[in-house]
Amino acid sequence: MTGVFEGRWEAAANPFRPTFGAEPPMLAGRDAVVGSVAKSLDEGVGSPGRATLLTGARGTGKTVLLSEIEDEARQRGWLVIAETANPGLIERLVEDRIPEVARHVVDPEPQRRVTGASAGPVGLSWENRNPARSRRDLRGALADLSDLLDEHRTGVLITVDELHGGHIDELRILGTTIQHCFREGRDVAFVGAGLPSAVSSLLSDQVLTFLRRADRHRLGPLAPDDVASALVQPIESLGRAIEPGALHEAVEASAGYPFLIQAIGYHSWEQQPAEQVITLADVVAGVAIAHDKIGRLVVEPALSDLSDTDRTFLAAMALDDGPSRMSEIRDRLEASNAFAGNYRARLLDADMIVSIDLGVVDFAAPWMREHVRHQLHVEPDDLPSDELKLIAGLSRGDKAFLAAMAVDDGPSRIRDVRDRLGGATADHASQYRRRLLAGGFIVAPERGVVDFASEVVREAVRNQIPRPAPPEPRAPGHDIDFS
Ligand SMILES: Nc1ncnc2c1ncn2[C@@H]1O[C@H](COP(=O)(O)OP(=O)(O)O)[C@@H](O)[C@H]1O
Ligand SMILES: [Mg+2]
Repeated sequence: MTGVFEGRWEAAANPFRPTFGAEPPMLAGRDAVVGSVAKSLDEGVGSPGRATLLTGARGTGKTVLLSEIEDEARQRGWLVIAETANPGLIERLVEDRIPEVARHVVDPEPQRRVTGASAGPVGLSWENRNPARSRRDLRGALADLSDLLDEHRTGVLITVDELHGGHIDELRILGTTIQHCFREGRDVAFVGAGLPSAVSSLLSDQVLTFLRRADRHRLGPLAPDDVASALVQPIESLGRAIEPGALHEAVEASAGYPFLIQAIGYHSWEQQPAEQVITLADVVAGVAIAHDKIGRLVVEPALSDLSDTDRTFLAAMALDDGPSRMSEIRDRLEASNAFAGNYRARLLDADMIVSIDLGVVDFAAPWMREHVRHQLHVEPDDLPSDELKLIAGLSRGDKAFLAAMAVDDGPSRIRDVRDRLGGATADHASQYRRRLLAGGFIVAPERGVVDFASEVVREAVRNQIPRPAPPEPRAPGHDIDFS
């Protein structure tokens, strides 16, 4: 038994759920999104919310919001197919998921069956209604399912979590199929969720036009009032209380970030679970643990996916206590405009930073700065020594060009670079030069001269790309095959 009992508090189980995908004790601040999808199911075919996209950084609550939307759909009698965008999506839908829900409609209580042989009158089972046809392809299977649901005056909601550009072929099949269903006036709805960068890469796809027309909701931080309810309601429903100052501190420290709300709630509760009131001291201790946890679960994995230069860029930002000016970051990195701009774009894509004004960037979330300071303890002039992923991704010719430049300690004359490349044609050399300039790897301080955009690049090239072997004599103008 838990709760207040004869004036004494008996410890209840901790209600908070600081785990990815775990349903929170109270889902705060998402009524509008849930409501708009629910409304679209009621409104009928053609309602815009029937294709909806949720985007947000890791831990903003995409997965649990999908679950909430699925529940809402089920309450309206809709069938739900909840999937994740990993390989085999289409096959799973066609072979397993669609037949599964269809069987459920035809025979809602399959557990009553004793054996397969006694599976009810012929003509009632899904397989018999739809001999082999349903297995043909997604379009056929979904059409059959939707015909069946039509008889029951209901529809199917398909949700896909973790959308990303990696398996775009399968998403294209799903997208065109859903688009067809919409056109044919079928009661089908789609809700997808993914990281903003992953989703934006899908939005530019020519085939996935229906995603561009989808209702988009970016899950940002929750408003302070919502955060407060998300903390207070679970605490009070179990008979505990939280001091006003402690609540204020918890709300501030979460910065509205759902994962942190759960982590702070959980660890504050855990300090003195046998006491009725959660104090400021409990919250201060809880926040410290929560921040540490989020560093390990969210920031560290994100940092380790980045290149050394990305990290150096973040370290340069972390010198500021608030938003950073790009011009200052450039100075700190001794980098060119194009070079810094390139990394800015990469970090925006990775949802590590946000652009808050022209030429001003900030960490995507406030606790990231602390964590980057703590994790990287990189002085901006510490040059990264191991690999630079971007350089690794260049063509062989581009790399050879950079390696030929790295022989010099300062600017290189194009003519020397061509010689080092074994007499590359002017054409070839100018192609590499142009590409590397555009990529922000090099700068052209004067005619016929190039230099590394930053010492970071020179060092990385030196560490990463073997120096060119002494050129073998070739006829002048001979084309080199770099492939
Ligand atoms: N609206 C919300 N209110 C309170 N807690 C939430 C809310 N949304 C998510 N959470 C909590 O945040 C954490 C991350 O949620 P999750 O759905 O896994 O995020 P994502 O899928 O965006 O990475 C979970 O612990 C979850 O319980
Ligand atoms: Mg998720």
